[in-house]
Amino acid sequence: ASLVPIPHPPGYPLVGNIFDLDPEAPLLALEDFAKVYGEIYSLTFFGNTVNVVNSHALALEILDERRFHKTVHNNALEEIRALTGDALFTAYHGEETWGVAHRILIPAFGPASIIGMFDDMYDILSQLVLKWERFGPKHPIDPADDFTRLAFDTIAYCAMGHRLNSFYTEGVPPFVEAMGSFLRESDGRANRPRLLTWLMRKSNAKFEEDRRMMNDLARQIVEDRKANPGSRKDLLTAMLNGHDAQTGKTLTAENIMQQMNTFLIAGHETTSGFLSFIMFYVLSNPEVHAKLRAEVDAVVGQERMRPEHLSRLPYMTAVMRETMRLKSTIPLFMVTPFEDEVIGGKYLIKKGTNIMVGVSNIHRDKEVYGEDAEEFKPGRMLDGKFEALPPKAWIPFGNGQRACIGRAFAWQETQLAVATLFQKFDLRLVDPDYKLQLNQTLTIKPKNLRIYATPRTDTT
Ligand code: HEM
Repeated sequence: ASLVPIPHPPGYPLVGNIFDLDPEAPLLALEDFAKVYGEIYSLTFFGNTVNVVNSHALALEILDERRFHKTVHNNALEEIRALTGDALFTAYHGEETWGVAHRILIPAFGPASIIGMFDDMYDILSQLVLKWERFGPKHPIDPADDFTRLAFDTIAYCAMGHRLNSFYTEGVPPFVEAMGSFLRESDGRANRPRLLTWLMRKSNAKFEEDRRMMNDLARQIVEDRKANPGSRKDLLTAMLNGHDAQTGKTLTAENIMQQMNTFLIAGHETTSGFLSFIMFYVLSNPEVHAKLRAEVDAVVGQERMRPEHLSRLPYMTAVMRETMRLKSTIPLFMVTPFEDEVIGGKYLIKKGTNIMVGVSNIHRDKEVYGEDAEEFKPGRMLDGKFEALPPKAWIPFGNGQRACIGRAFAWQETQLAVATLFQKFDLRLVDPDYKLQLNQTLTIKPKNLRIYATPRTDTT
């Protein structure tokens, strides 16, 4: 077969396609391009080319770990290394520290550890429930805001034994604010020439200040633990005391700080967006809402949620999977080939070029999901249909060895929150005609979504 050029939106000289992307939500432009250019297209930013893959058939090839691997080079992750160095998320492919930390941390994220966190997760969730009960039925709630508090406090408490008490403080937690501007600037840096960044003195000072602020919290948590070691067997214990059986190595103090910042960021930003999208989809689909509530009432009733309930809520699980299909909070990730590769039998991908895995487009591939792929239908994830999906058709947690290590953690935290909130509240949209808008840093969240929460009276 002969090679064909990869389609390329025209763009502008020098800056390439940078003005094509809406800075508030570049994801939407990526989705629009996919509708015009199809299974693959390329974009150029200041001479740096990235290919965007949008179909399941091509995903099967680029997610084959014998041919392609995750890449951190020339994308926002490389800039984030200023904070997180060679910690799990931002380690280069093959970096030795990645393997050491991965092997030390895997057991701390395993099923037994996660079930062991159930009560601590419930503790933080109760603070959110109490807050919504006190607000009463007339107070518009910004779910993204309170889910950020929930997820942020949950990761810090469950993984590090540290209470952030975000529900008891006004405004956005300072770490969360610093993180938001740090992530946005990392993305900005990845898309502009170094010289330009070097000239931007004010934003460079802010970048440093954000970094310092986040490091201060990580350092404080480690120092607290060293002063009061206690008997907790959590992630922080694993990092401070763990040995890698394969190399005999331990994690350095600097690496532990970088891992802590990684977990504080990766551990909350994604889950809070996920919970917010679930609220959006359920509250805008009355039939789904009714079914979800009926299941929660039948299985959990008036009881306090227990670990045994988790596997008995199949409809809720389908709602979660379908939400992730349509709105993956990490909407893309990057891979690159080991050698020059031809994909789809005709597109040449040179060694050293990056490929953006267009998760949100792959999740809407009509070849896999049918003509109604754009619609929210949890039924397509029920009764073994999820298990029967082809490999790599549902990839919200990334791929292969570099897939999300916190998946089970995020899943349990979300199950617990969704079931409990529908058990305890009548929930509805403030604006019944609300149309989904997005906020994007490295992850996406609904923008301007507001809900009312009224404590339920029909069940008592
Ligand atoms: C990696 C998604 C929750 C920690 C990833 C990746 C994705 C992802 C797509 C791969 C990124 C890439 O290839 O560049 C999600 C989603 C979540 C979630 C959608 C929630 C709904 C969490 C939580 C934690 C976490 C709760 C920590 C407790 C990590 C880490 C990595 C990672 C450390 C890097 C793994 C490695 O490369 O070894 N996640 N994540 N994530 N995630 Fe998550």
